[in-house]
Formats: sequence, structure tokens, C-alpha cells
Amino acid sequence: MIFLETERLLFRTHEPQDEADFIAMHTDSEVRRYMGGQAWPLEKAQFRFRNEYLGRPTKIFGLWATILKEEAAYIGSCGIRAGKNETETNLGYILARPYWRRGLASEAAKAFIEVAFTRLGSARLLADVEKGNDASEHILQKFGFKYVSQEEIPGRGRILLFYELLKAEWEKRAT
Ligand SMILES: CC(C)(COP(=O)(O)OP(=O)(O)OC[C@H]1O[C@@H](n2cnc3c(N)ncnc32)[C@H](O)[C@@H]1OP(=O)(O)O)[C@@H](O)C(=O)NCCC(=O)NCCS
Repeated sequence: MIFLETERLLFRTHEPQDEADFIAMHTDSEVRRYMGGQAWPLEKAQFRFRNEYLGRPTKIFGLWATILKEEAAYIGSCGIRAGKNETETNLGYILARPYWRRGLASEAAKAFIEVAFTRLGSARLLADVEKGNDASEHILQKFGFKYVSQEEIPGRGRILLFYELLKAEWEKRAT
């Protein structure tokens, strides 16, 4: 199922042919540097793909297979995760390294912010980012997310920064 399209990207349900690229992305330690800090072992990436991504999402929530249209290539997973309640949702994006720094995560973030506040009717969109993940933090700030708080991940020496974007703020920026 195709969920959404932007100028360069298409977001659809994960399909079997995405497996190799999904595994390559999550076994790349640079990709996972600020997402737990370690590359997934091959078995874990394969298990996660087959059990948590393949055939999903099917409706709205979840990370969608992200396809670069001009290359028909699977380049990552982006979307909105359900939050604690219906009006609070979480933005997420992860791209394979060869596709970084082309504005693609920004393009995805912009599209899913709009989904959250229009199709989903969220009042507040949340995002968390590990301290040091400057590219990701920059994307959030660029789209108007405001820093809320931070939390140390116990025993890991890592800090998670929590950001939020309120619908009212987003509407103000859009006008
Ligand atoms: C974080 C990530 C999604 C960024 O993707 P991307 O497609 O390279 O991002 P963009 O090209 O849209 O660039 C975003 C902005 O950050 C800037 N940027 C990129 N890398 C940067 C860095 N290392 N430090 C500071 N700014 C950086 C870009 O210049 C751009 O700024 P601009 O819009 O003002 O020109 C990508 O690196 C990624 O998937 N990383 C691994 C997974 C991950 O960390 N996901 C986020 C979890 S919170």
C-alpha cells in the first residue's frame, strides 16, 4: 500500500524486496550511532525486518518503507508512531548512509508533520533525539520543534533530548 508521496519520495508498506537494504542500513554502525549506539547484528536486523516491518505499516501509524522514486531504491523508514494517546504522536526517520545530506530526511519530516496535524488530527507532535545527533536535531529545529526536556539513559552515558511541535505553532508558521 502506498501511503504518501512527496516530490522525490514515496512511502509504502515494507515489502520482501526491501530486506537486504533494510539489513544493510541497520548493520551500519554510523546509521545506528545515535540510535542505541551499535550496529544491529545481521540476525537481529533480519528478525526485526521479518517480524516488525514486513507487511507494515498497514494504516497510518508506524515507519513506512521510504523509496527514492528516481532510483526505485529503498532508502529507509520514516513516519509517525503512536504516542501515549491519540492526540500525541511521535515523528521518526532513519535513512541509509548513501542517501544522507540530500535533504531527503527534511522532505520526509515535512510531509509527516503535515500528516500528523491534518490527517491524524494530532495536537502535539513529539520527537526525541540523542544528544550529538546534530543533523536530526537541526531538522527538528528547522521545522519549529521546541526543546522540552532531557533524560539520561541509565547506565549508557547517553542523553535523550525531547522536542515537541504544537499544532497551533505549526499553523502559525504555515501561514
Ligand atoms: C539524521 C538523518 C535522518 C538526517 O538525514 P539527511 O537526509 O542527511 O538530512 P537532510 O539532508 O534533510 O539534512 C538536514 C539538515 O541537517 C544538516 N546536517 C546534516 N548533517 C549534519 C551534521 N552532521 N551536523 C549538523 N548539521 C547537519 C543539513 O545541512 C541540513 O540542514 P539544512 O536543511 O539547513 O540545509 C540521517 O543522518 C539518518 O538517518 N541518520 C541515522 C538515523 C538517525 O539518527 N535518525 C534520527 C533519529 S532521531
